[in-house]
Amino acid sequence: MKKTKRAKKSRTWVIKQHRDQFFKKAKVLGYRSRASFKLIELNKKFSFIKKNSNLLDIGSTPGGWSQVASKIITNGKIIAVDILPMETIGNVNFLNSDFLDEKTHEKIRNIFNKKIDVIISDMAENTTGNKTVDSIRTNNLCSEVIKFSLKMLSINGSMVCKLFMGEDFLEVKNLAKKYFKNVEFFKPESSRNESKETYIFCSLLKTL
Ligand SMILES: C[S@@+](CC[C@H](N)C(=O)[O-])C[C@H]1O[C@@H](n2cnc3c(N)ncnc32)[C@H](O)[C@@H]1O
Repeated sequence: MKKTKRAKKSRTWVIKQHRDQFFKKAKVLGYRSRASFKLIELNKKFSFIKKNSNLLDIGSTPGGWSQVASKIITNGKIIAVDILPMETIGNVNFLNSDFLDEKTHEKIRNIFNKKIDVIISDMAENTTGNKTVDSIRTNNLCSEVIKFSLKMLSINGSMVCKLFMGEDFLEVKNLAKKYFKNVEFFKPESSRNESKETYIFCSLLKTL
């Protein structure tokens, strides 16, 4: 076997093992998706979900992140939003709606009836196969979450959102820095190495 072919095969094997490890772990622990581990790692690093948090999970289906949040939050409200349906989770109020629709914002406002402590978003557009296009589309969603946070997040609240290390990464970073005192980036171990996905963590809204 040629050297390049062998290297490619070995890389594929490593990627597959990495995926399988979290897939199996999710099954054993009863999580709906391997994504659960990303939120567990993010919360371990930044400690933003508390037992009395009011939390909004955007792009929640199939529910891995909501499951994690619902285990921690025993005395707060959780709202999950997705355009796709999601199976019920005990203390999670699910809205089957498009987050980009202003009417969805209205519904969220009415249910919480006050500012939100934690906004988490794992929203992603369907991939097109073109990495630049995919990154721009998902990073647009991230910008929308940042803008929504300005209106709905409590002053000491936290926001976590998926984004891609694409050409427009800096635009999103600058938007976040304009509005938050603290902006950090973290790629969980459970996020595939070969994926350009990372997460932005923002806290301490600036008073403009
Ligand atoms: C990677 S999945 C989320 C996985 C989830 N965090 C979990 O732990 O199971 C991304 C989700 O974003 C949703 N999504 C994409 N655009 C959306 C939009 N405009 N409004 C609401 N949800 C959206 C998709 O339907 C998809 O379910």
